[in-house]
Amino acid sequence: MAWQKLALRVAQEHTDSLSELLQAAGAISLTLEDAANELLIETHWHEMPLWRQVTLSALFPKTADTAMVLSAIEAAGIGLLATPETSAIADQAWERAWMDRYHPIKVGRGLWICPSWREPVEPAAVNVILDPGLAFGTGTHATTALCLEWLAELDLHGRQVIDYGCGSGILAVAALKLGAARAWATDLDPQALEVARENAARNQVVDRLSVCEPAQLPMGLQGDVVVANILATALVELAPMLIACTRNHGQIALSGIMAHQADDVADAYRDTFELARRNREDWVLLTGRKR
Ligand SMILES: C[S@@+](CC[C@H](N)C(=O)[O-])C[C@H]1O[C@@H](n2cnc3c(N)ncnc32)[C@H](O)[C@@H]1O
Repeated sequence: MAWQKLALRVAQEHTDSLSELLQAAGAISLTLEDAANELLIETHWHEMPLWRQVTLSALFPKTADTAMVLSAIEAAGIGLLATPETSAIADQAWERAWMDRYHPIKVGRGLWICPSWREPVEPAAVNVILDPGLAFGTGTHATTALCLEWLAELDLHGRQVIDYGCGSGILAVAALKLGAARAWATDLDPQALEVARENAARNQVVDRLSVCEPAQLPMGLQGDVVVANILATALVELAPMLIACTRNHGQIALSGIMAHQADDVADAYRDTFELARRNREDWVLLTGRKR
C-alpha cells in the first residue's frame, strides 16, 4: 500500500491541537521536525523540549482526502506558516526503515558497534552486537561515540562500571566486552531497560550486567568507572548522586552536554574531579578522576 504525506508548518503552540486533529482525521503516524533550523535547548530532562516553529508531517493512507483535512485545519483556526506540502510515499516497514542505513562502525581502538543484522567487519576486534530497537544508543550519535572512544582507552579489566541513562545498553555492554568485571545499567525508560537486557543477551554478558531502574540500584553502589550520557540539566541535578556513585580515584564520563552548557556541568563536578574536555560537533564530553 502506498501513502501520502502531508507536511504542515505551524507555531509551537498549535502542535498539540494540530496533532489531535490529524490523528482524528486518520493519520497513522506523526513526525515533528524543526522548521527553522533552530538549535533545540532542553530546559529540564523530564520536559519535552520543542522548537518555536515545527513541521508536523502526517502520514495518511493513499485514499484519504487531504483537501478535507486542510479544510478542517482552517475551520479549527490553526494558522499554517507555509503552504502545505503533499507527497506520495512508497510502502515500507516504517519503524525499521533506518536499519538499511545502519552499518558496523569503528568507534575506538579495536572497538566496533555492529548492528545485529550485519556481519562484523573485523571479527577479531571487540564487536558489540547491537539492536537499539526504539531506545537511544546506536553509537552513531556524537555523545555516544565520545563515551565509547573514552571507554576503549581505559584499562577496564577487573573494573566495576555504572552506565547511568543506559538507553540501548551500548556503553555498559561495550565496557564489559572491553574487559570490565561487572556493570550496572540504569534508565528511567522501561523500554530502554528491556532493550539493554536484550543487548546483554546478544553479547553474552547477562551474568555480569544488572539492568534496573535508578531506584533499584543497590544502596551505596560505587563504580570504578561511571558513565552518564544524559542531558546537561540532568547531569547537574544528579551530580551529588553520580559523585557518590564514583569510588575514590575512580573515573567519570559525562556526556550529552552542548558546548555552551559545559561550564555549568563542570561547575557541579570540579570540586571532586580533575576534569578534562573533549569536543565533537557541538557536543562536549567531560571526563575526570575522583580525588
Ligand atoms: C542520550 S540517551 C543515552 C543512551 C546511551 N547511554 C548512549 O550513550 O547512547 C539518554 C538516556 O538517559 C535516560 N535518562 C534521562 N534522564 C535520566 C535520569 N534522570 N535517570 C536515568 N536515566 C535517564 C533516557 O531515558 C535515555 O535513555
